[in-house]
Amino acid sequence: MADPSDRPAYGFGTRAIHAASTPAPVDQIPQSIPIYQSATFSASDSAELGDILSDRERGFAYARIDNPTAHAMATVVAGLEGAEAGFAMGSGMAAIHGAVVSLVSAGDRIVSTNAVYGSTRNLFTHVLARFGVTTTFVDPTDHAAVEAALAAGARVLYLETISNPTIVVADLPALVELAHRHGTLVVVDNTFASPYLFRPLDHGADLVIESATKWLGGHSDVIAGVVSGRQELIDGVRALETDIGAIVAPFSAFLVLRGIQTLHVRMDRHSQSALTMARFLEGQDAVRAVYYPGLASHPQALVAQRLLRAGGGMLAFDLGDRRAASAFLDALRLPPRTASLGAVQTMAVHPPSTTHRQFSDAELAEAGIPPGLVRVSVGLEDAEDLIADVAAGLAAARSAVPA
Ligand SMILES: Cc1ncc(COP(=O)(O)O)c(C=O)c1O
Repeated sequence: MADPSDRPAYGFGTRAIHAASTPAPVDQIPQSIPIYQSATFSASDSAELGDILSDRERGFAYARIDNPTAHAMATVVAGLEGAEAGFAMGSGMAAIHGAVVSLVSAGDRIVSTNAVYGSTRNLFTHVLARFGVTTTFVDPTDHAAVEAALAAGARVLYLETISNPTIVVADLPALVELAHRHGTLVVVDNTFASPYLFRPLDHGADLVIESATKWLGGHSDVIAGVVSGRQELIDGVRALETDIGAIVAPFSAFLVLRGIQTLHVRMDRHSQSALTMARFLEGQDAVRAVYYPGLASHPQALVAQRLLRAGGGMLAFDLGDRRAASAFLDALRLPPRTASLGAVQTMAVHPPSTTHRQFSDAELAEAGIPPGLVRVSVGLEDAEDLIADVAAGLAAARSAVPA
């Protein structure tokens, strides 16, 4: 359409509306992916519009179904995961919901690991159960228990590469082999690792999820998620999301794309500082156990060495009881009182009262989450400053609990 502001025959309102919504052509290539902040996209004619909306032709018509910035984010993440395709969503939970619901129907069963993110457990036990989908929770390191659960018939085996909050490392190749032998699809939440440290699809997983809110975005300024996998499975997610509408917003996708460009540099430094902190914690009398995949003492140290590029930024440790954990957290000066992870700032939480508050006491015990557990997402601050802060926290934890 010619620039309507040039057409004096149109009234002021018509010219203002149409001129202000007609992008000028750009011949040069922008060096960051533009934020396509548009709800709709116009086709060249009405037949083409119908073809795009019906998926007979590739293109964009309505931003709830797909939009170019979301598409760019999905394509970039899928490439980094080694996937054929991806679909970018408004949150990690939207991605988990989209991935799982695209695969299950009433009467199906999910086998999930017992220590999973609290909202994931809630989604499975309280939401999907209302639609006739049941979930059995198992210890992912007990392969006989996983096999027994799969033998009873399951549509999906749902795993976290590194479990939240217990830092259990799943032996993914072995678990995928078990699942596929029973005709079960494997969906992996890779949020704690990120595709830089581990690529579940390389080991046979069917779908991989990232909460892009965490390491991919990396700066605590965006909520987003993404599912990647084979084209046919992603087509299923996309078809579902056409009617659910949980696609990522363009500005959020832009922030994730910007974050991804430094993911490799950040993850190396997060891993280095987390290892330093884990080694420091291991030598402290107030600490009963430290869980970090890069430590030789980690129960799955060999699995971690075989599968992960580095230990990552997440660690957890047991201070024995809840009073000690609270005293530790309240004495910290650097981590804010916030419950997230995967950012430039260090964040520390008491999972039973925050990220895993949805778990009953019995579920916490079954998932191996002790009452004194502290989970730390190690940021990019100077490691010496973090260690000094942790030392002050431990002193407070010691005085909170009489010897
Ligand atoms: C392992 C894991 N997966 C998924 C999520 C959900 O991500 P979001 O908050 O982006 O919905 C979280 C959130 O903390 C998480 O820790």
